[in-house]
Amino acid sequence: MTTPRPRITGAVRVGAVVGRPIAHSLSPVIHNAWIEALGLDAAYVAFSPPDEASFRELINLGRSGLISGLNVTAPFKELAFSLSDESSDTARLSASANLLVFRDGQVRSDSTDGLGLLRGLSEQAPGLVLKGRPTVLLGAGGAARAAAAALAGAGSEVRIVNRTLERAEALARDVGSGVSVWPNLAEAISGAALVVNALSAPPELDVARLDEGTVVMDMTYKPLITPLLAAARDRGLSVVDGLSMLIGQAGPSFEAIFDIPAPDVDVRPAILGMLGEV
Ligand code: ATR
Repeated sequence: MTTPRPRITGAVRVGAVVGRPIAHSLSPVIHNAWIEALGLDAAYVAFSPPDEASFRELINLGRSGLISGLNVTAPFKELAFSLSDESSDTARLSASANLLVFRDGQVRSDSTDGLGLLRGLSEQAPGLVLKGRPTVLLGAGGAARAAAAALAGAGSEVRIVNRTLERAEALARDVGSGVSVWPNLAEAISGAALVVNALSAPPELDVARLDEGTVVMDMTYKPLITPLLAAARDRGLSVVDGLSMLIGQAGPSFEAIFDIPAPDVDVRPAILGMLGEV
């Protein structure tokens, strides 16, 4: 019998998710499942800095080469972006980052949420055509910014509907072509190929008024099937859940942090178990 090769050695590479609160983050489950499947000498942990100063210390650990990369969540996304030396176009657009990668003392920021959204859509609504078709985006916060840029980049005509009009206008201005502000929800949903909820509160949307064939996506994944998705499904519409986006953003994050593509391992069953959904 051969002794199994130890997976974690003194050469271990460390990635982490950082936010506050963080105890319920699903990112460690996703990344460690991939690390294990690949047999990498790596670990993905979680940090919850009590304040901004502690977050900055974490970045300094990265600069020193002690951490390979960080996924960042609330309330540190804007600070993460501001502390980076270079940033991707998508991070600049939202002035926030969900990913920091440390190499040679430098900090590079990126936002993989938009890519995650597109991956979730193609996985759960494979027939959806975005190019040249209208998408209604409910919300104008950080999550909506990442989504708007990705959807406009995919050729969709993005219609922003938001309680605070000025915020929607600022988003449309920043993202630029392909994004417009729609003060009236009923008008915005007419002819929409897709409606995406990026609000931090339940949307007031009557799915009975959506066109037949409109795909409905909710970025929230607790619960997995939100009241919006349940109502859409009852009406016979295709739905896309927020978990597909979470897993979708983790793939490019993993590759950037550990320099190897995420393996083709479905982490969804393990996460559904954790969420109490099975
Ligand atoms: P995130 O980074 O998750 O997008 P955010 O930046 O706080 O969070 O954005 C929250 C979004 O939900 C915004 O679009 C916000 O609308 P405003 O721009 O008008 O604040 C929206 N939102 C939050 N609570 C809401 C409520 N009770 N009714 C309607 N919209 C709400």
